[in-house]
Amino acid sequence: MNSIDGLRDRLGRIAYGGDYNPEQWPEHVWDEDLRLMKEAGVSLISVGIFSWAAVEPEPGTYDFGWLDRVMDLLADGGVAACLATMTASPPPWLTARHPEILPTGADGTRMWPGGRQHYCPSSPVYREHAAGLAERVATRYTGHPALALWHVGNEYGNVAPCYCDVSADAFRRWLRERYGSVDALNDAWSTTFWSQRYASFDEVLPPRSPAPFANPAHAVDYARFSSDELLACYLVEKEVLRRVSPDVPVMTNFPPSLRPADLWTWAPHLDVVAYDAYPDPYDAAADAKIAFSYDVMRSLRDGQPWLLMEQAPSAVNWRARNAPKPAGAMRLWSWQAVAHGADAVMFFQWRQSRGGAEKFHSAMVPHGGPIGRIFEEVRELGHELAATTALPGARAPRADVALVLDWPNWWALEQDAHPSADVRFLDAAWALHGPLYDASVACDVVRPDADLSAYRLVVVPNLYLVDEEAARGIERYVEDGGTLVMSFFSGIVDPHDRVHLGGYPGPFRRVLGLRVEEFGPLPESGTIGLSQGTGTIWSEDVHLEGAEAVEYFTTGEPAGRPAVTRHRYGRGTAWYLATRPDPATTRRLVDRIREEAGARPVLPGLPEGVQARARVTGDGPCYIVLNHRTTPVTVDLPGPMSDLLGGADAAGTVRLAPRGVAVLRPAG
Ligand code: GLA
Repeated sequence: MNSIDGLRDRLGRIAYGGDYNPEQWPEHVWDEDLRLMKEAGVSLISVGIFSWAAVEPEPGTYDFGWLDRVMDLLADGGVAACLATMTASPPPWLTARHPEILPTGADGTRMWPGGRQHYCPSSPVYREHAAGLAERVATRYTGHPALALWHVGNEYGNVAPCYCDVSADAFRRWLRERYGSVDALNDAWSTTFWSQRYASFDEVLPPRSPAPFANPAHAVDYARFSSDELLACYLVEKEVLRRVSPDVPVMTNFPPSLRPADLWTWAPHLDVVAYDAYPDPYDAAADAKIAFSYDVMRSLRDGQPWLLMEQAPSAVNWRARNAPKPAGAMRLWSWQAVAHGADAVMFFQWRQSRGGAEKFHSAMVPHGGPIGRIFEEVRELGHELAATTALPGARAPRADVALVLDWPNWWALEQDAHPSADVRFLDAAWALHGPLYDASVACDVVRPDADLSAYRLVVVPNLYLVDEEAARGIERYVEDGGTLVMSFFSGIVDPHDRVHLGGYPGPFRRVLGLRVEEFGPLPESGTIGLSQGTGTIWSEDVHLEGAEAVEYFTTGEPAGRPAVTRHRYGRGTAWYLATRPDPATTRRLVDRIREEAGARPVLPGLPEGVQARARVTGDGPCYIVLNHRTTPVTVDLPGPMSDLLGGADAAGTVRLAPRGVAVLRPAG
């Protein structure tokens, strides 16, 4: 069965393991690896992600012997393999023979071999070689008893888009397909501006470091194109795997940043969604921010459980300062992923590398061997997860709240030459998602044109780019009784980054009951007074057209003018934030709005810093309760519950240790 259900049936537990790079070690270490995997409760291992040069050391010469032995060892040891097609990093012989596959930056600088993932996604040479290797690997290992899952590529989009001549040709083909005629392209890109009119598609280039400023419609189309080209690379290999190995599900792991690819267009092509999460232990909001990513992952395939494919056991090596995870944080954050719908908890990587660029990245088995805190925590979590057989496959109940996310909007919002460089999509999303998270209110993530009717509250952070139809859908949702919260600089442009004329915020004017005349971005780190609290980033000149002002600006140019508004529209209510209130003020507003809308926390009355999420098993709901505080806490429960992690049966309350976790099921 090539779906997540097949994997769940096969593993029967939350999958646990990590990236395994046995080719970095002499074979005698492999026996110890298998012994330690068993000791650590490992059930799934990702093998071969960067093994191209190890299996095809010379063009057309294959050495699968070592991998055969690894796969057999895994099968004998009862560890399933998430086997890579090994195409994430081209070997030196390929780039030496075909330097044209190397990617080129926007400034024309070629990226040379020496790192990884150095290929142009549009390169037919790369794609042909990748498909060839995928076919070899699939043919050899399909039916192998260890094989459970196919892993294609690695973090597509982690490397910046390519701007080479091959990409330029592919971009022109993509544009012909999208626009049909060069006149339509000129119209969409507003090329009468600055004498940019094209006489033919042949004149179009990628947006290579242009003299300022880039044509924003051109730049956003290039982001769309780059996402599509990466998807095409994935699909080339997926087609091979589906043909050769039809029963095994296929996945790729999305990079932490979320930004590079339009994951709504990718989601239908995945058998299961997988994500790599690297929250920064030095960031006090790390758990809140990662919760947003997890909500995105769960939502991509409509609530289907997803896989946490990578996380660090402790420190990473790629930040300027790499904090180890404090004791208990790895367990807590792993359970957080499970609470948000993950059916796997995996790490980068199994054994800490001796050499190479990642030798200071923590691993499940550290340089010092299987002693010490990291391995101890890894082992304990592996056994704890093994025992929770009820959870895999269990979906989250549909959330009361949805947050609108659109990738072209994200890319367009962050173009140059805007009123403020401080308006970044993730900041806007975190600002509105955070208060929901803090209050343990579950939140799905949806596309702008989604059916919103099931949600009590819809949150729309900075939907700058929107088409009329999606905007009309959001308006109808309110008309029909829904509650909307929208933040400033929304409804500004169409999908080609052309302004919706007739007054901001264009297609949302009617539903919001207001008109914005001018934007007043704040100076760097500046704040502006509100009747209660302060605003950050932004202010604007709001004219009410039916909405009422709930908060006012109290300082600066817009003093006395509306800062937060509410509009009763049809049977629903639309709220508008004309600034980004400070976190406490946003929390107060969002609490009020969602309470009025009837969007409830997963469990009532949780103390601050304690989170709960539900998953619905065959035997009813399970509540995963997470204490993100560094002090113990007692939580009142709505009734008697039992703790699947073996904590005492909770007769109405549960005591959580610092960074403690309980998995609760209503008793009886
Ligand atoms: C990414 C990659 C891994 C590894 C980790 C290190 O997630 O997919 O190969 O480099 O980063 O954090």
